[in-house]
Amino acid sequence: MIKIAPSTLCADFRRLEEEALALVDAGVDCLHFDCMDGHFVENLTYGPIVLKALRELTDIPFDTHLMIANPDAQIESYAEAGADHILFQAETDARPVRLLNRIRALGKKAGIVYNPATPLGEFETILPAADIVMLMSVEPGAAGQKFMPVALDKIRVLREFIDREGLPTLISIDGGVNDETAPAIIEAGIDLIVTGSWFFNHPEGYAGAMADFRRMDAEHGRG
Ligand code: DX5
Ligand code: ZN
Repeated sequence: MIKIAPSTLCADFRRLEEEALALVDAGVDCLHFDCMDGHFVENLTYGPIVLKALRELTDIPFDTHLMIANPDAQIESYAEAGADHILFQAETDARPVRLLNRIRALGKKAGIVYNPATPLGEFETILPAADIVMLMSVEPGAAGQKFMPVALDKIRVLREFIDREGLPTLISIDGGVNDETAPAIIEAGIDLIVTGSWFFNHPEGYAGAMADFRRMDAEHGRG
């Protein structure tokens, strides 16, 4: 079953505790944290302090997306704050296998993220060290953007490689996922979907959004 990870960036920050508990009640699989430093992307959002504040509320995995210029200097802080998945952008580190191994050595799931215009490059060398590979289907920096279909071919290439090699690496997608774009994403072989604006603005609330994703998974998924 495909895992659904709503992005807390789209939550109501006046009521973050309530929002986190409502998301857990709705049956989401992870909480996605969009940590932006104002350097790698122009936006500045939140850091370890928000993960730490929410950590005692739930034990569902915190899927932590580091849109920061120097992830190598900060992974320990996120690990200590309660991150379960720590994902860095491929564009921010020249030695990705080393950094993935460092994240794993902290006992966390290690992930690498590729922007829409970033080629997958030497993914056959990198993926054995990665628990998650995430494809951006929007340019990072904000929620509410239009899905970029360039991610679909990347999913297919990675799906074929991971299945052929029998790797446990999960393929994740992030950006512009909604009820129109999700079917093709699911058919391409995704394992984990990050969702922001569509999920948080769903007319039937979080439970309605989850029901839609579970239905689309049943209709288009690999089972
Ligand atoms: C963008 C973030 C995404 C985004 C998802 O930089 O990494 O997680 O918030 O929001 P939507 O689903 O609205 O694109
Ligand atoms: Zn994200």
